[in-house]
Amino acid sequence: MTSRASLPSWQALQKHAVEMKTQHMKDLFSKDANRFNEFSLNSDSFLFDYSKNLITSDTMQKLFTLARDCELEQWREKMFSGERINTTEDRSVLHVALRDRSNTPLIVEGENLTEKVQAALAQIKDFSERIRTGTWKGYSGKRIKDVVNIGVGGSNLGPQMVTEALKHYSDQSVRVHYVSNVDGTQIADILRPLDPENTLFIISSKTFTTTETMTNAQTAMKWLVTSAFDEKAIGKHFVAVSSNKATACEFGIEEENIFDMWDWVGGRFSLWSAIGLPIALDLGFDKFVELLEGAYEVDQHFKTAPLEKNAPVIMALLSLWNCTFLGSQSQAILPYDQPLHKLTAYLQQAEMESNGKSVNWQGDEVDYPTVPSIWGEIGINGQHAFYQYLHQSNNVVPADFIGSVASVTPVKGHHDTLMANFFAQTEALMGGVDEQQVRADLKAKGRNQEYIDKVAPHKVHKGNRPTNTILMDQIEPRSIGSLIALYEHKIFTQGILLQICSFDQWGVELGKGLANNIYDELKSDVIDGKHDSSTQNLINYYKATKAAKS
Ligand code: F6P
Repeated sequence: MTSRASLPSWQALQKHAVEMKTQHMKDLFSKDANRFNEFSLNSDSFLFDYSKNLITSDTMQKLFTLARDCELEQWREKMFSGERINTTEDRSVLHVALRDRSNTPLIVEGENLTEKVQAALAQIKDFSERIRTGTWKGYSGKRIKDVVNIGVGGSNLGPQMVTEALKHYSDQSVRVHYVSNVDGTQIADILRPLDPENTLFIISSKTFTTTETMTNAQTAMKWLVTSAFDEKAIGKHFVAVSSNKATACEFGIEEENIFDMWDWVGGRFSLWSAIGLPIALDLGFDKFVELLEGAYEVDQHFKTAPLEKNAPVIMALLSLWNCTFLGSQSQAILPYDQPLHKLTAYLQQAEMESNGKSVNWQGDEVDYPTVPSIWGEIGINGQHAFYQYLHQSNNVVPADFIGSVASVTPVKGHHDTLMANFFAQTEALMGGVDEQQVRADLKAKGRNQEYIDKVAPHKVHKGNRPTNTILMDQIEPRSIGSLIALYEHKIFTQGILLQICSFDQWGVELGKGLANNIYDELKSDVIDGKHDSSTQNLINYYKATKAAKS
């Protein structure tokens, strides 16, 4: 397989990056009054400004040429038509089918997937309505008031991020809780105030083999049965979402309480499926559909807009430019709206589990850096914690700033204060302030020369730090659907550009396997002795200290 690095368009970008590193964005802005218009896109639900990147029209042209050389448009078509582009698992990648609102049959390998999706949506609608209206009763005849979703990774982060983001739209028909950690503290804390008679559990696990989820599910079952004195209560209080129906049934979930999932939907792209059940339960089915519609709008945009006007394509190209060509190793995701406080964690899994890899489709080591590590926090909290690093460290961290024109919870005076910070930060990161200016400011404040000489170098902000701004009108189901889909397609595009198989996650398997072996060792006197001395001694210390304390 030809490495991307051998493409002339790739090499042209490498050469161009050397030139661009000598430029400052501040100068690019002063030279070009049209820069914002040229490097921003406006859709119905968001404004995307990428002008504060170290780019020129020439950079973008070179990036679009590379995208075409990588046959991005053809790969996009392969994904939408259901070709098995997840080659290491031999699967299609069709999360887009889950939110296709066109009603057009999607036939893949002789199967009409549209019918399956519609049947699943009908099941979600029916079930969520029965729970929300109280028609569905618990074992003692009481309605369900609390729903506990037990799942981890893609079976947790998506629904939790969305229900937090859209809390404002919940009518509180039910309260939704999430258990993901196998640390018993979490499930114990969540269950303590709940009443088994009106609590429903959703066991969300695509594989139904994830140890942490199964352990939490068993604890939840014991909690219920201890209260009901009857295993039959499980049928009224446990549902599952899984593509492994047989194992879910063996576990004790009644077959009619199992929502289907398919192998053509990856865990981290699955909130549009029945994995999104907590969203429909919390907000109502209509709002869940609005979320799908928002994503569908972006799917259409991604599918049809020319690369030059295609937001997810541009997001991916800029990530490649900043990381692979200009050398950044991490990227910050900085949402300013409080409801988006889980977005960074969600995108961490989405991008890092998808593209955090170092071999290409054929299994050869790639000879270029791939994707950055993703981190971040709600912007205002971040400003008072790690923005110092963003402004003045010697690592450049490209950042996405995400905010809204209107707050869902308008409190007089708050939103403009929030947004003033939002705009100020990207301005400061881009422009910085040079030593001459720092000295002039200090002088104007009446500082003496000795003080100015001492402090000036510490107050210099070099600027030239790339940011993207995504400005939504307001957080609502549709805009959140669009926002997530933007990032999903960015991730797909990155994978194509980098020749990375974005839809497997072999990197999490090794640790899982070792944990299973060590678990057995923790429970018995036998230790297989195959560990390195660090791991061996840590296990010994744990066991000895535990024994001494018991
Ligand atoms: O962490 C690995 C992973 O396989 C994720 O990809 C997935 O989202 C998560 O575990 C949960 O898997 P499951 O839904 O099968 O329990």
